[in-house]
Amino acid sequence: MATTKTTAKSTKSTAAKRTTAAKTTSSKSVTASKASTAKTTNSRGVVKAKSTAAEGLKELFIDSLKDIYWAEKALVKALPKMAKNASTPNLIDGLNNHTTETEEQIARLEQVFTIIGKKAVAKKCEAMDGLLKEGQDIMESTEPGAVRDAGIIAASQKIEHYEIATYGTLCAFAKTLGMDDVADILHTTLEEEKQADITLTEAAYNTINFDAADADDSEME
Ligand SMILES: [Fe+2]
Repeated sequence: MATTKTTAKSTKSTAAKRTTAAKTTSSKSVTASKASTAKTTNSRGVVKAKSTAAEGLKELFIDSLKDIYWAEKALVKALPKMAKNASTPNLIDGLNNHTTETEEQIARLEQVFTIIGKKAVAKKCEAMDGLLKEGQDIMESTEPGAVRDAGIIAASQKIEHYEIATYGTLCAFAKTLGMDDVADILHTTLEEEKQADITLTEAAYNTINFDAADADDSEME
C-alpha cells in the first residue's frame, strides 16, 4: 500500500510540475517587458516589483550624471588653483580656458537634468576627489617652475582621461535609452574633453617636459 501511495503522490507531483511548466511557458510568451515587470515573491513573502533592464540602465545613467556633476563642480574650483601654480604661459592659458569650458559643461549637465525631468543633484565622485588630491599633492611637493608644470599636466591629463571615459559611457547610455538629444549634448562635452587632453599633450611636448628635463639635468650636474 505504501508503494501505491508513493506512486500516487509521485503522479500528483508530476502533474503539478506539468501545470507549473505550462504556466511558465505561457508567461514566457508574454512580451519581455511585461514578464520582467511581473511581481515576484521573495522567501519572506514580501512582494517586490522587478524593474526592467531599461529602468535599471536609466537609474545607472542618472546616478552617473550626478557623479560627473559633482566632479565638474569640484574641478571648476580646482582649475584656477592649478593655473595659479603653473608658470608656463600656454599652460596657464589652457587651464583658464578649460575653467570656462567646465562652467559651460556644468550648464550642459543642468540642461540634461531638465530634459530628463530630474533635479540637478551632485553626488560625490570618489574618483575625481582622488585625482584632485593627487594634483594637490604634486603642487605641494614641487618647486614652482617647469617640474611643477609637468606635474600639473600629468594630473590634468589623468582628470581628462577620466572625464573622456565618463562622457563616452554617458553618450552610449543615452543612445541606448533612445535619448538622442541628450546624447548630442553630452557628445559636445566629450569632444571638448578630448581637445583639452590634446592641448595638454601639446603643452607637455612643446615646452614643459623638455624644460623639466633640463632643470633635472642641471640639478644633477
Ligand atoms: Fe569636464
